[in-house]
Amino acid sequence: MSIKPKILITSAAGKTGLQTALQLLEKGYPVQAFVRRDDHRARRLEEAGAELFLGDQFALADMRRAMKGIQRAYHCAPTAPNGLHFGAVFAIAAQENRIEHVVTLSQWLSHSDHPSVYTREVWLNDAILNLLPDTTVTVNNVGWFADNYFMVLEPAAQLGLLTMPLGDGDVKGNAPPSTEDIAAVSVGALIDPATHAGKIYRPTGPALLSPNDIAAVLSTVLGRKVKYQNISESMFLKALTALQPPGFTEATLTQLRLYTEEYRRGAFAVSAPTDAVQVVSGREPEDFETIARRYAASRPEAVRTSTNKLRAMRNFIRILATAKPDPDRIEKKLNHVLLESPTFVGESAEWRRCHQSGTEAAFDTPRQSPDEGVAPVRAVN
Ligand SMILES: NC(=O)c1ccc[n+]([C@@H]2O[C@H](COP(=O)([O-])OP(=O)(O)OC[C@H]3O[C@@H](n4cnc5c(N)ncnc54)[C@H](OP(=O)(O)O)[C@@H]3O)[C@@H](O)[C@H]2O)c1
Repeated sequence: MSIKPKILITSAAGKTGLQTALQLLEKGYPVQAFVRRDDHRARRLEEAGAELFLGDQFALADMRRAMKGIQRAYHCAPTAPNGLHFGAVFAIAAQENRIEHVVTLSQWLSHSDHPSVYTREVWLNDAILNLLPDTTVTVNNVGWFADNYFMVLEPAAQLGLLTMPLGDGDVKGNAPPSTEDIAAVSVGALIDPATHAGKIYRPTGPALLSPNDIAAVLSTVLGRKVKYQNISESMFLKALTALQPPGFTEATLTQLRLYTEEYRRGAFAVSAPTDAVQVVSGREPEDFETIARRYAASRPEAVRTSTNKLRAMRNFIRILATAKPDPDRIEKKLNHVLLESPTFVGESAEWRRCHQSGTEAAFDTPRQSPDEGVAPVRAVN
């Protein structure tokens, strides 16, 4: 009888961590789920068979304890400040415990000169993991999640408006992957390092969609006309400040404006869609309608009632009445590391070389190899 390796899932109560843990448990793998609160998500993990590790994943002592007896791990820095601190803590504990294989949730935008400090920290974390001598790595190089569109499920369902700063409504700017499919790629790599070690995969949905396409799908799913409204960055920042969606911090606001800027510049359309979900997990990627039906069925704000409509209208007025935050001032106040000459991905020749379609791009972080010196990790998708 083969003994399955035990797998640590960091950020296990989060979007991709939860799904990664549940899918591994379904396949019979022992899972240690790192969570910071004993809440309904922890209960769900425990009921599915996970061993809970309650702690602070930014604290080295906790990470060291969490990695005892672990063979493989999912590395997922929260979308929050101090991602590099998380990455350093994870890498030290992984090296001490000789973790054999890590799957890291990276970013399609990841590059070393990006204006987003979060994105630069993702790049640095990837680089640190690639220096671990005893650990192989698979990079999940995902772009803009399908989940992001459901930040505005309330105005879509209640007021018929998909209000996001995504640029021209007709431009097919993203092939959105479901959280379940992003997790399926991580799971495929965690259970089969022999095939996937050293690879970079970018999970996407099956088709490039424009904001108008997204609105049309939402119209079908919600049973009402939903119109895409391209809002200004200023209105977007006011909405985030007024409504404070889950995980919102002032710091995150300063980064989200850079990600919507990348969306408008077309970064998420580059080389999309891919066949990574099918190649690594063996399943077809979910289309946006399937994804949207799941959100509509589980989110209370999707149900059309007069109370919900009133709440949506009140929220809209709150947004209008909120002062526009100044992201540059916030970044300075928070002491974010800011580069003199940052580049969005389209302006980076190095990023374009590694991410253009039709080539088997090389990851632009060197991997140490005792025999060959520095060798690039190869990407397949
Ligand atoms: N969204 C996108 O479009 C996108 C695109 C590309 C890449 N990414 C990458 O996705 C990653 C985030 O993944 P995700 O969306 O799956 O995560 P997530 O939903 O943001 O979850 C992060 C989890 O970490 C937990 N956490 C925070 N601080 C903790 C601590 N000190 N100790 C223990 N747990 C802690 C949070 O707990 P609580 O829930 O209890 O607060 C949360 O459940 C980021 O690295 C980002 O770069 C996102």
